[in-house]
Amino acid sequence: MSSFTITGLFKALTFAGLSLALFPAQATFSPDAPTVLVTGANRGIGFELAKQYAEAGWNVIATTRRGEGDPGRAGLEQVQQGHPNLHIERIDVTSTEMINAVADKYRDQPLDVLINNAAAVEATFQADLEQVNQPYNEIDFDAARMDFDVNALGPMRMAQAFMDHVKRSKQKKIINVTSFIGSFGRGIPTAMGMNYGASKAALNMYSLKLSHAVKPDGVIVGLVEPILVASKPGVADNPMAKPVQDEVAKLRKVIADITMETSGLITNFSTGEIDPY
Ligand SMILES: NC(=O)c1ccc[n+]([C@@H]2O[C@H](COP(=O)([O-])OP(=O)(O)OC[C@H]3O[C@@H](n4cnc5c(N)ncnc54)[C@H](OP(=O)(O)O)[C@@H]3O)[C@@H](O)[C@H]2O)c1
Repeated sequence: MSSFTITGLFKALTFAGLSLALFPAQATFSPDAPTVLVTGANRGIGFELAKQYAEAGWNVIATTRRGEGDPGRAGLEQVQQGHPNLHIERIDVTSTEMINAVADKYRDQPLDVLINNAAAVEATFQADLEQVNQPYNEIDFDAARMDFDVNALGPMRMAQAFMDHVKRSKQKKIINVTSFIGSFGRGIPTAMGMNYGASKAALNMYSLKLSHAVKPDGVIVGLVEPILVASKPGVADNPMAKPVQDEVAKLRKVIADITMETSGLITNFSTGEIDPY
């Protein structure tokens, strides 16, 4: 090896080392690719979003409330092995401290799309149904407070912490995942899902207000909801449930196509239509 090559190699290694030291968070991110952050990315719709965006070459910050070593992160870790453009970070959306730590770690990273997907839901459809069928006179108010904390306040905490990252990006999108269980306009005549529904209705109002607040900065706030996604054990038995891969592909298209025109409105990603609040 010539001295020129050795010098060149030394310089390259030094530069790489310096880059890693200066920009550790973004070391395996492409500066030319768009960046997405997903909350609740360890399973269900969030996992599939993180996986599909990583496969599409995006820089992905896949967040989960589960810490290192938790078996619940295994799926994400497996995706990361084939896709170094996916980073796993720990965020419990009820923790401002955890959120701010990640926002600070990625302070130099423009964030094209922030997806607030995490929700206080159960790991199986059966357990979800037990929760949503809880009668009004047996409301567990601690559980109700948690629904509001995760489903309504969580996205607002994330929006606060990451707004500067979003503003600095090309696409400038915040996407909040809601549910028709929180809809007034659909007028579904059921007492089902009081806590969950009320917290999603609060999310809708927060999102609408936020859309007006950040419109002058060119930031789009999209609300999205599906009909029923087979995202967890038990749900696929329901004839209405659609495969998570297909529904997430539709969701990604909705996110790609969203414009300021529909900021603050709810797009149903199963049908592609605008749903009522
Ligand atoms: N599936 C549907 O048909 C459907 C219909 C309407 C709306 N949605 C909405 O779509 C989104 C995703 O639903 P899904 O069916 O994919 O749910 P899921 O499979 O049950 O996943 C929920 C995710 O949220 C995470 N999470 C819960 N509490 C959290 C917290 N405090 N901080 C951070 N992450 C937290 C969970 O993490 P852990 O693993 O740690 O619990 C999990 O990763 C939700 O907003 C839901 O309301 C879904």
